[in-house]
Amino acid sequence: MSWVHEIARPDIVALKPYEHASWEPSLERLHANELPWRPAQDDSHAGLNRYPEPQPRALVEGLAELYSVASDSVLVGRGSDEAIDLLTRAFCRAGRDAVLVCPPTFGMYSVCARIQGAEVLQTPLLAADGFALDEQAVIERCAAGVKLIFLCSPNNPTGNLLEEAAIPRIAQRLAGRALVVLDEAYVEFAARPSLARLVAKLPNLAILRTLSKAHGLAGARCGTLIADPQIIALLRKIIPPYAIPQLTLEAVLARLTPAARAESRARLDVLLAERARLLRALPGLSRITRVWPSDANFVLAEFTDAGAALARAREARLLVRDARGYPGLGRALRITVGTPEQNGRLLEAWG
Ligand SMILES: Cc1ncc(COP(=O)(O)O)c(C=O)c1O
Repeated sequence: MSWVHEIARPDIVALKPYEHASWEPSLERLHANELPWRPAQDDSHAGLNRYPEPQPRALVEGLAELYSVASDSVLVGRGSDEAIDLLTRAFCRAGRDAVLVCPPTFGMYSVCARIQGAEVLQTPLLAADGFALDEQAVIERCAAGVKLIFLCSPNNPTGNLLEEAAIPRIAQRLAGRALVVLDEAYVEFAARPSLARLVAKLPNLAILRTLSKAHGLAGARCGTLIADPQIIALLRKIIPPYAIPQLTLEAVLARLTPAARAESRARLDVLLAERARLLRALPGLSRITRVWPSDANFVLAEFTDAGAALARAREARLLVRDARGYPGLGRALRITVGTPEQNGRLLEAWG
């Protein structure tokens, strides 16, 4: 038996997936109970009266090319949120298995685990060491039953990259036992390339990428899991058959053209300059006691009175994220880097 089938839920391994209507675009469709007419004002390419192609081939290949990985290692979902949910459902038996997270970190890992009835184990990042990964503690905490280890780099909400070499080391130590899921939602903003290239060598390393951040497509809902083809095949059994809406498919394909990618890169340059501006300016404000470095499109800062800072931002019609609920961040706010005008307004409100 393959290692994926050994660690996945046996009932999912045995599951016979839903058989969706076959995808044969050269033939006319009387096999999916759709209406034969497009809605008025439907200017989509394929027609919204039709179910979209399951795991659209052009999208899978376009994303594989974007991320420089093989197309059989790609699963596309409604945001990386969907991939987190699918992984948890496929690998964790309710009441028996666990996931490991490293707080303070992105909340969906724990939420998906709890929805699935999986236990959530924690190995906190080392706050005194710039929220570094506690590699040894992660490995020691991964007893039998821990199926997924979620690592986020750059980490949300702290903004730091995790030590690059630690990630393959952890995967190697847990080979055949657990899957290390590295969430790289913000990697385009970092001065380090993605670790997606390692997936071909380390089958128990999976990478999450998203178009919601640097590619400006949060509203389209499109995220990618890059993983061993056996994991992709397993998750394809449980992802809803028509997960990617036709409008999303068309919007994403339009953003993958060379011209659109050049535009995204140019915007990224502006964003990085604005992040540098915030990182320079925020520490000079009297009511800010600490600003952490950032490799993401947000900045984490600590305030003398975070509640008052939230209120002042709101008066300037700006929302920033209250990070006070995270362990160890009792006076912190997370500020997404905005346009030059928005950042200026925020600095003025806090000045
Ligand atoms: C670390 C991290 N992973 C994943 C996501 C979810 O992204 P998506 O829009 O692809 O579902 C977010 C969203 O904020 C995030 O911060």
